[in-house]
Amino acid sequence: MDVSSLQVVRLSDRPDLADPMWAATDEGWPAFMMHDPVGNLYYPRLERDLGDLCLMAITPGDEVIAKACFLPVTGSVDDLPDRGWDAIVERGIADHDAGRAPTMASALEIMVAPAARGLGLSTVMLDHMRRAVAELGLVDLVAPVRPSGKHAHQRESMADYLARRTDEGLPADPWLRVHARAGATIVKVAPESMVIEGTPEQWHEWTGVDFDHDGEVEVPEALAPVMVDLEADRVTYIEPNVWVHHDLRD
Ligand SMILES: CC(C)(COP(=O)(O)OP(=O)(O)OC[C@H]1O[C@@H](n2cnc3c(N)ncnc32)[C@H](O)[C@@H]1OP(=O)(O)O)[C@@H](O)C(=O)NCCC(=O)NCCS
Repeated sequence: MDVSSLQVVRLSDRPDLADPMWAATDEGWPAFMMHDPVGNLYYPRLERDLGDLCLMAITPGDEVIAKACFLPVTGSVDDLPDRGWDAIVERGIADHDAGRAPTMASALEIMVAPAARGLGLSTVMLDHMRRAVAELGLVDLVAPVRPSGKHAHQRESMADYLARRTDEGLPADPWLRVHARAGATIVKVAPESMVIEGTPEQWHEWTGVDFDHDGEVEVPEALAPVMVDLEADRVTYIEPNVWVHHDLRD
């Protein structure tokens, strides 16, 4: 992959790339992440009226390799919701539809296609997002970050995971480290950023895991164990994220 040949465009400028954008999205996220009901508020709007808030890195052959999407919202950095991603999507869509003037922006997604990971593209996309937010005249960008290494420590609390640091004092988590290097500070944990529920059968389809006992079960790519209740025919996943703040005043 020749990173220097990539071009960053907005979905609103290249609506013809919606199909490859969805293909990259499906490939880039664990399948269960596509079943957060709050996503139904946001994803159908991407093509319709929020495409100017979605940046895509594309190859010369029009393949979508990465995306970075955000939403302007009302509210303040001092009062970020425990319901992280879910709450900020609900708020941002309501603000947009009511025509309220935003006071900050929230990142909703930065995704790099699996084949292009490890090449430094996440920093490039984050930088484009920071600039796009600043161009709107906003100086605070927040993000409910999904730490990319937390899945390997599912039973550790997020607070303990955040205490893991490199020798330089940066977050041990690779994705939080990218935000920190770009100048972000960690604000707090969002303990219930997404709630994803389904039957054991659905969760088996999404993860390949067989659910044969009640209680906490680790599934691949989750940041915490899911809770299984076989009698209720229910598997519930509550995803913790980490709110970070990029101060764009500098
Ligand atoms: C998180 C994600 C965006 C990172 O993108 P990327 O372009 O592969 O990351 P980069 O190449 O810029 O590397 C970023 C850091 O992660 C490290 N890294 C990359 N791949 C890694 C791996 N497989 N294991 C451990 N660390 C890794 C890099 O070394 C770098 O850290 P460093 O600069 O301090 O050494 C990407 O993995 C992804 O799209 N994941 C799925 C979607 C997601 O979770 N997005 C974040 C939602 S908030």
